[in-house]
Parts: sequence; structure tokens; C-alpha cells
Amino acid sequence: MEQAALFTIFGGTGDLAQRKLYPSLFRLYKKGNLAEHFAVIGTARRPWSDDHYREIVRDTIKDLAPTDEEAQDFSNHFYYLSHNVNDTDHYDQLKVLADELDEKYGLQGNRIYYLAMAPQFFGTIVNHLKSQEILTTTGYNRLVIEKPFGFDYDSANELNNQIRNVFPEQDIFRIDHYLGKEMIQNISVIRFANNIFESLWNNRYIENVQITFSEALGVEDRGGYYEHSGALKDMVQNHILQVVALLAMEVPTSFSNKSIREEKVKVLQAIRRYDSEEVLQNFVRGQYDTGTLDDKNFVAYHDEPNVAKDSLMETFVAGKFLIDNFRWSGVPFYVRTGKRMTEKGTRINIVFKQVPVNVFNFEQEEADGEELPQNILTIYIQPTEGFSLTLNGKKIGQGFNTDPVKLDFRQSAEVTENSPEAYEKLLLDALNGDGTNFSHWDEVANSWEIVDRIRNTWDQTTPGFPNYAAGTMGPQCAFDLLAKNGHEWAWQPDQWYRERGKLD
Ligand SMILES: NC(=O)c1ccc[n+]([C@@H]2O[C@H](COP(=O)([O-])OP(=O)(O)OC[C@H]3O[C@@H](n4cnc5c(N)ncnc54)[C@H](OP(=O)(O)O)[C@@H]3O)[C@@H](O)[C@H]2O)c1
Repeated sequence: MEQAALFTIFGGTGDLAQRKLYPSLFRLYKKGNLAEHFAVIGTARRPWSDDHYREIVRDTIKDLAPTDEEAQDFSNHFYYLSHNVNDTDHYDQLKVLADELDEKYGLQGNRIYYLAMAPQFFGTIVNHLKSQEILTTTGYNRLVIEKPFGFDYDSANELNNQIRNVFPEQDIFRIDHYLGKEMIQNISVIRFANNIFESLWNNRYIENVQITFSEALGVEDRGGYYEHSGALKDMVQNHILQVVALLAMEVPTSFSNKSIREEKVKVLQAIRRYDSEEVLQNFVRGQYDTGTLDDKNFVAYHDEPNVAKDSLMETFVAGKFLIDNFRWSGVPFYVRTGKRMTEKGTRINIVFKQVPVNVFNFEQEEADGEELPQNILTIYIQPTEGFSLTLNGKKIGQGFNTDPVKLDFRQSAEVTENSPEAYEKLLLDALNGDGTNFSHWDEVANSWEIVDRIRNTWDQTTPGFPNYAAGTMGPQCAFDLLAKNGHEWAWQPDQWYRERGKLD
């Protein structure tokens, strides 16, 4: 259904706006969610004209194969205002333009302010939206903001107070683009629509949970940003803890924004707060060195552009979270994320406990000396999307030897290609006022509390970096972390390359 709204994109000339926001708005336009009654104001300091801006917008959507007429009609809804967010006068111009467009396109005072800019500007922008009376009284006023939301609990809290002075919580949409991904949203369906899983979803049947967010790329041109964030703040504080919450939450009373948030917050509150000693036992970090994978050579992190030669920033984290509640007591949630790993992949492995007694033990051990493999439910988030379940079946032939069988479902490339992009879904959610797939302040606050403890402990010790070769699945300590509990990572793509002599 068509929505009427004015989007004001602060940082309208930036990378995020051009790579993600304009193409996503175009997809919404193609589907009819945006039609006649929408307009976009892009603002940034560069002195662009409307014509130039529209040309840029058309350029960003050319891969989506619009007809000339569509491209023209869509881009005609875009207006550019050269604006320095620190300059109060510019907000007065913004108000005039916004009111004009409201009138011209019949937008009913509905406004979405998208801050595609560095967070240090958020406070000043929202204050000016209020003081210069850009906020409307007739329609809605919603704020969409990007990560990072602060760099620790205190800064996040300060930022939140600034924003909450102007916008109530229900009108703040903190983007965590993973929450817009199809398979992340599918976690809830797999759990709550399948009795065979939900009835086993607890510490009686699940031995451990493993969450991997691995990148094959290095830091590329983001060295400057990464030197201040590292893998812990870049990935664990937001995306990984959100996934832990979705996997571990209780069944919500309804699938509504409020009920889901309540359940997610309860999980985050129940995650054990480690003291320094526990942090050192349960979290390890790494930084990539030079490496060769499949005949490709990679430089070490400290030789990447805008990275200090003696950098102590981690490009890899692995850790174990414990959730102290009835359902999860004693079940480790292992997480790992890093750059320059063997393969790009986001996946979750739910490792089920062994059967209490292996009645095939004798035959099995005689056959290959190995124990019965555990059942594993794997959820593939990206790049492939789907899930698989490994079971044990009987090996064909004499006797009762077992053979692992994999039930595998992957979305076809065609379906994946045509499924809405995360930003498209999130923009539509914001238009609909649905905050389910965004991070609530209570979630952000709890995540920072957890992550700050790890960061503060690490800051007091000097790591022996670099400690893993580019192209591998991280440092040895990440494997030892599981081995000391008698567990191992279910996903080890590096083995495939090692067996073929493509990785040392
Ligand atoms: N890029 C991504 O894929 C991505 C992903 C996740 C999160 N984010 C977050 O999204 C935000 C934007 O990222 P980005 O990659 O798009 O950054 P970017 O390319 O550096 O864009 C920054 C934008 O801010 C504008 N700007 C800077 N100072 C300004 C000022 N004083 N007044 C008005 N405009 C100003 C810049 O335009 P002018 O120079 O013309 O003023 C530019 O449009 C950041 O918070 C980032 O962490 C980005």
C-alpha cells in the first residue's frame, strides 16, 4: 500500500545513502509502497544542484534496470540542500523546503529523518529539528539512525539522552541491518513454528550453540574506523548479541514489537556479567598476519592503509556467553567473528546432546573408531540462505553401522536474488512504524554493559599480535576455547583447503 512521507537524509552524498538507501527506496517505489506521495531531501555540505543529485540517484539504481521513465519519475522526487549540520541557519532553509514539499506531494506531515552520518552529529541534528520547528505536529516524526550507537555504555547513554530529549523511544529506529536479513528473521519461524525444534530448545537437549560471522575480506579502506572499533565493538556488541537474544529468548506472548523486545531484553539481562578473570578465560582475540590461501597472498593487518604498525586492535574475537536462566543454564553460546578468515559466512550451529546411550557403539567403534556424530541444526544466514539438519541413519549393508545424513534446504539463487534487501525491509518497517527489527535502547544498553567488561579487561593486557595467518579460521586459542569443554567448532572451512594443500 502506498505510504506518504518525506525522507530527509542527512549524509545524502555519502556511501551508505548511495549504495543502500537510494536503491532500497527505488525498490519500494517499484513495488508501489512509494508512489506519488513521497519526497526525499538529501543534505550534506557539498554544493550540489537538484539536477546533479538526481543524476547521482539515477546512477545508484541503474543495476536495478529501471526504464527511462521510471528512473526519471523516481528521481524527480529527490531534492538537494547544501547544509552543514552545525549551522542553525541551514535548518531554517530545510524547514522551508520540507514544508513546501509536504504541500506539493500531500505528505500529511509524515517525516522520516535518516541520519546517515557519523554519530557525533546526531545530538546537534535532533536538537535543531526541534528548536527550528522542523518536526511536524500533524503527522509522525521518526528518526532512523545507523550504528555505531556510542563506543561504550557511557557514550551510548549520553547519545540516547540527547535523542530521547526530542524523540520518544517508539519513534527511534536504531538500525542493525542484520535484523533485516531474511534468515535472521527466519530464526523465529524455525523455532516457533516447528514443534520438533521448540520442544528441544533448552539445556536438556542442546549441548552448545555456535554463532559464526566470518569475513574473507580484510579491513580494506576502513582502517581508520576499525582502529577505533575492532571486531568486538564492530560485531559482537550489536549483530552477534542480537542473534544470541533471538536464539535464546522465550516464546513471546504474541509476535508483536513489544513482546519480542521484552523477551530479548530478558535474555540480555540473563547473560552472565564476567569479572576480569572470567573474561580472560572465556574470550580470546586475534589479529591477522600475512597469509596465503589458494595461491593468493594477503598482507598483515598492521600493513593495511590507515592502520598503525604497532596496532593492538583485534580483527578477530571468539568467546563463550553463558545465560543464567532456567532454559539455558550450563549451555555455552560460542561466538566468533573476524576478518581475513577462510570464507565469508554467517551461520548458526545448534549442537544437540548425544543420545544417553549409544546402542550402536560396539559396531560403530569397530567400524571406524569414531563416536556417533551429534545432531546439528545449521541456519545459514549468508551468503547462502537456508538450514540443514544432520541426523544419523543406517549405513547400507550388513550390521548396524550408522551414517550421518544431512537434510539440506537452501534457498535457490533466484529466490535469494529477488528477496527484499535488508535496507528495503527496514525502510518499509520504519514507514509502517514497526520497530520489531530494530534495536531498542534497553537492548543496546545491556549489550554495552556486557561488551565493556570484555574491552576493559583487554585494555589492561597486551596481546601477542599478530596471532593468526590471513585465510585461516582464527588463532589457536579460539579452538582451545571449545576444546577445554570437550567441544569443537562445527564449521571449519579451513580444513577443506588444508586437505587440498591450498592452506598451510
Ligand atoms: N557505508 C556503510 O555501508 C555503512 C554501514 C553501516 C553503518 N554505516 C554508518 O552510517 C553512517 C554514514 O556512513 P557512510 O559510509 O555513508 O559515511 P560517508 O560516506 O563518510 O558519508 C558521510 C556523510 O556525511 C556528510 N557530512 C559530513 N560532515 C558533515 C557536516 N558537518 N554537515 C553535513 N553533512 C556532513 C558527508 O557529506 P559532505 O562531505 O558532502 O558534507 C557525507 O554525505 C556512519 O555512521 C557509518 O558508521 C555505514
